[in-house]
Amino acid sequence: MIIQQLHVESFRNIHSAQLSPGNGLNLIYGHNGSGKTSLLEAIHFLGLGRSFRSHLAQRVIQEGEDKLQLFSRLAAGDEEHKLGLRRFRNGDTEVRMDGERIKKLSLLAEALPIQLITPESFALLFEGPKARRQFIDWGAFHSDPSFYLNWMNVRRILKQRNQLLRDKASYQQIAFWDKEFLRYSTAVTEIRKHYVDSLNEQLKGIIGGFLPQVEVRVSFTQGWDSKTDFAELLQTQYERDLAMGFTVSGPHKADLRLRVGTLPAQDALSRGQLKLLVCALRIAQGKLLQQQLNKNSIYLVDDLPSELDKQHRKLLLQELVETNAQVFVTAIDPAAISDSLNFPPDRTFRVERGEVKVIE
Ligand SMILES: Nc1ncnc2c1ncn2[C@@H]1O[C@H](COP(=O)(O)OP(=O)(O)O)[C@@H](O)[C@H]1O
Ligand SMILES: [Mg+2]
Repeated sequence: MIIQQLHVESFRNIHSAQLSPGNGLNLIYGHNGSGKTSLLEAIHFLGLGRSFRSHLAQRVIQEGEDKLQLFSRLAAGDEEHKLGLRRFRNGDTEVRMDGERIKKLSLLAEALPIQLITPESFALLFEGPKARRQFIDWGAFHSDPSFYLNWMNVRRILKQRNQLLRDKASYQQIAFWDKEFLRYSTAVTEIRKHYVDSLNEQLKGIIGGFLPQVEVRVSFTQGWDSKTDFAELLQTQYERDLAMGFTVSGPHKADLRLRVGTLPAQDALSRGQLKLLVCALRIAQGKLLQQQLNKNSIYLVDDLPSELDKQHRKLLLQELVETNAQVFVTAIDPAAISDSLNFPPDRTFRVERGEVKVIE
């Protein structure tokens, strides 16, 4: 998918901005606080119906305004779509695709797959397992149409099961739910496993270029001991689950392990190297989607030059450009990007106090 036109209204400090991005690399530059991240955030908001910076969507709406509006003209091959989103202060969201109201935000994610890399999002990948699980599930969701429903069922049953555990239900009562829990958990786990395998294939080449001296291993952990049968485990762990008041093991505990030698990646790599690893993961994810479904992601890379020397900025930009996807990168100093390119960006925008201007 390519954004051909974007209209942002009352989003953070952007009162109104209209831009026609290029199909390839788009460079957005400007001083601190000018609105660069906000512009990426707006694109992300359009693709997911939520922000990456704030859980409170009201904060994204410009102060003094009652709603934000995003409008875009999208192209994928010969197809063209109009996608619009409105978010009101009371939390209501209205999404329209070609004039039709969309109720499920998951349809939005399908239409506009986004790969986001910000200093915060990459730190997140090395903290709790949640962000890593979300990373796997993004891929699982896009690569297998049955994932979403299976995962929703896991969540629904897990909620029931945990409620029963809190209510000190008997094992028989719990076992009633476990049959279904087992079925959906197995389906979710198979899809995730398969996805991480395919991802690893993609990753090899990219990591080889980014971190040639380091041996990075990416592996999937399913959320319970892989040598133990899950049905059996649920039974033997009933007492423990009961004491804890929740289901201790299961697909809700799945994780992606990132290791260098025997160490967790975050202990073995520098910040710049970690950033490259996260970029490699995101690029691999985008490439896989391209191969599997012939769908192009949109890459958003906030503050691309930070933490990276010129050589690695070059490698990263090259890898991004080679995806043939639409890419938006931000930087304070545009030279930090153009110095690392052998050609000019497709389009360059300067942001100043919330105003976005194309640079000819
Ligand atoms: N809801 C809002 N209404 C108006 N301005 C906002 C809102 N939220 C954030 N801002 C302001 O938007 C400005 C732009 O922030 P940001 O996009 O992070 O800048 P940059 O990434 O260019 O450094 C900041 O000065 C911030 O105070
Ligand atoms: Mg910023």
